[in-house]
Amino acid sequence: MSPAARRAIVILVVGLVALGMVLAGVWYFRGGNDEIRSGQVAVGGGGDIGGPFSLLDAGGRRVTEQDFAGRYLLVYFGFTHCVDACPLSLLSMTQALDRLPPAVAAKIQPLFITVDPRRDDAAQIGLYLENFHPSFVGLTGSEPEIAAAAKAYRAVYQTPEPDANGDYQVQHGTVIYLMGPDGRFLQHFPHTVPAGDLAAALQKVVGD
Ligand code: NI
Repeated sequence: MSPAARRAIVILVVGLVALGMVLAGVWYFRGGNDEIRSGQVAVGGGGDIGGPFSLLDAGGRRVTEQDFAGRYLLVYFGFTHCVDACPLSLLSMTQALDRLPPAVAAKIQPLFITVDPRRDDAAQIGLYLENFHPSFVGLTGSEPEIAAAAKAYRAVYQTPEPDANGDYQVQHGTVIYLMGPDGRFLQHFPHTVPAGDLAAALQKVVGD
């Protein structure tokens, strides 16, 4: 083997090791983040999660909790640029609703409330939700309106400074909340809940 070829192999191996370390670092960081996220959301005590909100739907109409009175709500706080928890959660919610008998699914209103109103205007949320269940209602609002809604649900979030490209990932709680027709908190699910488990739980609570 020529010295040049040997050098090329060494460079390749060093490169692969470096790549592996970067990937391991990313994996570890993501895992650590998830722990922080699930640890941030205090759930318990039952009665005091949820409450009034006043937000805008994807058509720009003003919407409050009153508009959903009498229906079960599946509520999730997230943002459309999210690269991990949000797509998982919304996909699981979508697949769970698809698995339910239509009459049961029709009693459940899934809500996606952005924690990134700076980027998630009504149009952006509307486009994003085209990827998920057609019954989803996406909600945005001013920063104080979003903060008030999140506070009512004890959903924490933190928006970091944008990077050089203007990108940022909002750190946020990833709980899926099930609210009763009277607006009361019933149950919560982690964003990692398998669609089948979520469907079974919904069937049990909502089904005839
Ligand atoms: Ni997310």
